[in-house]
Amino acid sequence: MTDLVNTTLAYLNGTWKPLNECQVPVNTHAFQYGTGCFEGIRGYWNGQHLNLLFLHEHFERLHANANMLLMRAPSVSEMNEIAIQAIRANAPKHNVYLRPMVFKKGTGLGPVLVNVPDGFLLYIQPLDQYFAAEKGLNVCVSSWRRIADNALPARTKATGGYLNSALAKSEAMINGYDEAVFLNDRGQVCEGSAENIFIVRDGVLITPDRTADILEGITRKAIFQLAKDRGIAYVERPIARTELYLADEIFLVGTGCQVAFVRSVDKRVIGDGSKGAITTRLHQAYEDAVYGRNEAYRHWLTQVVC
Ligand SMILES: Cc1ncc(COP(=O)(O)O)c(C=O)c1O
Repeated sequence: MTDLVNTTLAYLNGTWKPLNECQVPVNTHAFQYGTGCFEGIRGYWNGQHLNLLFLHEHFERLHANANMLLMRAPSVSEMNEIAIQAIRANAPKHNVYLRPMVFKKGTGLGPVLVNVPDGFLLYIQPLDQYFAAEKGLNVCVSSWRRIADNALPARTKATGGYLNSALAKSEAMINGYDEAVFLNDRGQVCEGSAENIFIVRDGVLITPDRTADILEGITRKAIFQLAKDRGIAYVERPIARTELYLADEIFLVGTGCQVAFVRSVDKRVIGDGSKGAITTRLHQAYEDAVYGRNEAYRHWLTQVVC
């Protein structure tokens, strides 16, 4: 697997090279100060084609986030093209994950975002399951608060901000949990270390709104669409911590984790500890959509013949 990743052709600042030859100097600004922002995109192999999920949406988000962080990304269409070229060049016959990143490639001293040149990279790697989640995830509420929007906006997917995620996830793992759920600085439920969260109460799907210091997840939005199309009511509103313990169902969503049901929170079992009915419906619908089995969601996919 490591060899497979190292030898894939990757894009760095205008050139294509094997990934293990893509190097930057140790005094690169992004390495020193976490001045980058990135995306994670999935490609699903359906036995014949590689289908890239929400390609355009990911690059639109990256472009907007880079702009917010005073970085210049290539245009959305250029990034789309680089992603498609990466798939064509490597011709994977399995599910993949694409990691594009805009970053400060300059080498200046001092944590600034202006007058430092920007770079862009993209590489791919195999990815099947992010979590071994068949039995459900045992999660905890993190003792770490989510970074606030006016400190380091989680919605930007800034590389430096992922230290906040890493602290929470590591604490959870050290304590024997699979994942952490952040509260924000108002003490309300926010998101996982790399996932958005949904709970179900009285048949209604509930998720924190976009001002709750979350990343505005692309999968989160897809879940709204799937719920709407199936007549499942959903609402975006603040979620109190103890609503987690009372929820009938809880699941995490994201490009990496897809749809992963939560078995317990802080050792309180959710429902009967199995995947709930609404989670099961949405999970199935999501899988059908991403593997191209449902015509209604084909427009979510960019098919690459390779
Ligand atoms: C902090 C965080 N929240 C939520 C998500 C889910 O976002 P998306 O569905 O766009 O992958 C991610 C994954 O990228 C994330 O890192």
